[in-house]
Amino acid sequence: MQLSAASSIGQQTKTARKAGVGARTRRTAGAKGKARLLAALAVIAWTFFLYLHFPGLSDTVQVSRGNGGADDPCRGRYIFMYNLPPHFNADIIRDCDKTGDHWGGLCASLGNAGLGPPLDDRTDGVFTGEGGWYGTNQFALDVIFHNRMKQYECLTNRSVMAAAIFVPFYAGFDFARHHGSAATSKELMVWVTGQPQWAWRMWGRDHFLVAGRTGSDFRRSSNVGPGRGNDLLGMPAARNMSVLVLESTLQHGSDYSVPYPTYFHPRSDAGVLRWQDRVQGQRRTWLMAFVGATRRDTPVSTQVRDHVIAQCKASNACAMLGCARSPGAGSAQCHTHTPATIMRLLQKASFCLQPPGDSWTRRSVFDAMVAGCIPVFFHTASAYKQYRWHLPKDHLSYSVYIPDTDVQQRNVSIEAVLRSIPPAMVVRLREEVIKLIPTVIYADPRSRLETIKDAFDVAVECILDKVERIKKGEFVGSGRPVSEDPPNLYMSTESAFRPKSSVSKE
Ligand SMILES: *[C@@H]1O[C@H](CO)[C@@H](O)[C@H](O)[C@H]1NC(C)=O
Ligand SMILES: *[C@@H]1O[C@H](CO)[C@@H](O)[C@H](O)[C@H]1NC(C)=O
Ligand SMILES: *[C@@H]1O[C@H](CO)[C@@H](O)[C@H](O)[C@H]1NC(C)=O
Repeated sequence: MQLSAASSIGQQTKTARKAGVGARTRRTAGAKGKARLLAALAVIAWTFFLYLHFPGLSDTVQVSRGNGGADDPCRGRYIFMYNLPPHFNADIIRDCDKTGDHWGGLCASLGNAGLGPPLDDRTDGVFTGEGGWYGTNQFALDVIFHNRMKQYECLTNRSVMAAAIFVPFYAGFDFARHHGSAATSKELMVWVTGQPQWAWRMWGRDHFLVAGRTGSDFRRSSNVGPGRGNDLLGMPAARNMSVLVLESTLQHGSDYSVPYPTYFHPRSDAGVLRWQDRVQGQRRTWLMAFVGATRRDTPVSTQVRDHVIAQCKASNACAMLGCARSPGAGSAQCHTHTPATIMRLLQKASFCLQPPGDSWTRRSVFDAMVAGCIPVFFHTASAYKQYRWHLPKDHLSYSVYIPDTDVQQRNVSIEAVLRSIPPAMVVRLREEVIKLIPTVIYADPRSRLETIKDAFDVAVECILDKVERIKKGEFVGSGRPVSEDPPNLYMSTESAFRPKSSVSKE
């Protein structure tokens, strides 16, 4: 970007000079001095304008001669973060305790840099704030990501040097606070498209923001419920940016999915490794587990959830923690059990059942992976088509797939499928899940992991890569439609482990 900004500056200066030359030749000798003065003034005005908008422009030249060269570890990784008016972030979460409605519940759980209250569970001393465990709300990512970005090692105040630009707008919180009103989002778009970094660079293609909810909350036309959603993703400026959401709408849009926040936010590499060792060594007494609530009025596409719950209840190899649903957009998570209770159960099961709920995927996918529990998916949009930055392409290396039609229409027994998986393969799957733990967690934003990359690091790397590819002229989209499977994802729609004995005649 440095190059194109520099060349555009060069062009502007050139144009100014050319105007000066043209004026000189056209005018009489008497007007010559005046024209020259005007040209000089134009150049000065431009330079002044540039300095105003790109403070540190002169430093750029120094840096590219000095430590901005090949040995600069931040080369190609600099990020410029807008200093937004507080109206777009800090003000939204100010005075949370004075908010009475459903937003208050989410808002009040944003302490500790967004992680929420430290867990203080005395049972075995593992799930404590000290150990990196917090009562994190699943919709807290706006502020967690912002705080992580403040610690990013390659931040720059010189936007001309930056490879990408972060817009720290709390789009998810704004949605919860204003019940989906689009007013603040619209204002933000006006603000950001008015910045010199917008039009002078890539018309926003190098900009990104976090909207820590599902993409369908931000797309009015989504199938989740017409009339719902603030249509942030439909705004022209947002279509040019990358919007990081918890679940992509998978409609070739600009919404890229990143993992839901979990309860685990380690402070150091050692904290991650200690936890991985612990879950590796866990004795798993349950074959499978399900944590969640039943849903009323679920669309046909997600009704497999009822079947999964029925099968779990009927099996003595399945542990289930039922959750009562609490009302309100800010708190669609399990309040019936403490995070420590949930995490303790997930560590005791080999497989964790992850049927879709209100949306294709769920926070529990990531809680379970943190517990070293192998996820069992019933729909490809629950993970395989989402999280392409964070989960391996070889989906069967870390998860089990049982198509929902097998369960809903063919009455395939989930237990029989899971029992038919060879023990050596279960070990391999679990090892892969445990290896992925750092990739699906957000480290404590108040410190920094030394060498391990967390979900934030992966997301930032992928944004930088995306911008680089766009600069080379590639088309980069966020995903395929839900109805379309990636090519060769599965040879058929059957589970790889479908036991012959349990298949009823169709
Ligand atoms: C950018 O500028 C702000 C305010 O002048 C300063 O506090 C901050 O440390 C600077 N950041 C970097 C990365 O230089
Ligand atoms: C989005 O980008 C295109 C160029 O790729 C540009 O023409 C358009 O004006 C941009 N939209 C906005 C709102 O800036
Ligand atoms: C589904 O299978 C179970 C046993 O696995 C059986 O008890 C039940 O009756 C079957 N249901 C249908 C509708 O076939």
